[in-house]
Amino acid sequence: MNGPTDEPAAGEAGGGTIVVAAIGDLHVTEHGEHQFRDVFAGMSDAADVAALCGDLTNFGKIREAENLAEDLRALTIPTVGVLGNHDVEAGQTEEVLRILEQAGVTFLDEQATVIEGVGFAGVKGFLGGFGRGELGAFGEDAIKAFVDESRNEARKLENALRALRTDRVVAVLHYAPVLGTCEGEPLEIYPFLGSSRLANAIDRFDNVKAVVHGHVHRGTYRGETPGGVPVYNCARFVVEAEFDRPYALIEV
Ligand SMILES: [Fe+2]
Ligand SMILES: [Fe+2]
Repeated sequence: MNGPTDEPAAGEAGGGTIVVAAIGDLHVTEHGEHQFRDVFAGMSDAADVAALCGDLTNFGKIREAENLAEDLRALTIPTVGVLGNHDVEAGQTEEVLRILEQAGVTFLDEQATVIEGVGFAGVKGFLGGFGRGELGAFGEDAIKAFVDESRNEARKLENALRALRTDRVVAVLHYAPVLGTCEGEPLEIYPFLGSSRLANAIDRFDNVKAVVHGHVHRGTYRGETPGGVPVYNCARFVVEAEFDRPYALIEV
């Protein structure tokens, strides 16, 4: 598809690029009013691939996933996704995954995929802070377990990226990999919005052309990794404020 996108092509000009429609933080409830049917139809018209950036459901309940699955029928393009922290809240993660996979979503966690020549790798990610403020594995066992989780998510992302041999890759996350797209949120909660370990994993590869994430409802749409990879906060509230529609359109 060649509709207007929010960003210039990351690769060289001319053919061969695809448009990714990215959206996060749907937070579909048990009483969902199928508000995403038209959104998904619009994404299907405007893009070649859809990327779902987590917090797809409000509490990770089965009824919420079923509601979302009904709306997902309107999404007729290949769809990749990651879960968010809200999707694991109810402890029914396997069932939620099964319902959404049956509705056509390919979940990227630990498995990368290639669509129309573009690689997609993704993880939920985790929190822990950014740059010099990043929490280190020191002291109490609880701190070490927390930091381990952050490192594991970054390692999973790195492994998935290493599996891809395409010259263009999109990384799909829930938590933020950089501080830049968190700007706008209260300073006090920055360490809970993401982890720079995710950006460090991304910057080990030169074929990652775009990163999309969610979770940061009141952040900033555009940022970049220390290595210069564009990062887009696709939490629907952020995208809506920027473009008057809840999904981002990114050409890669
Ligand atoms: Fe969210
Ligand atoms: Fe979240």
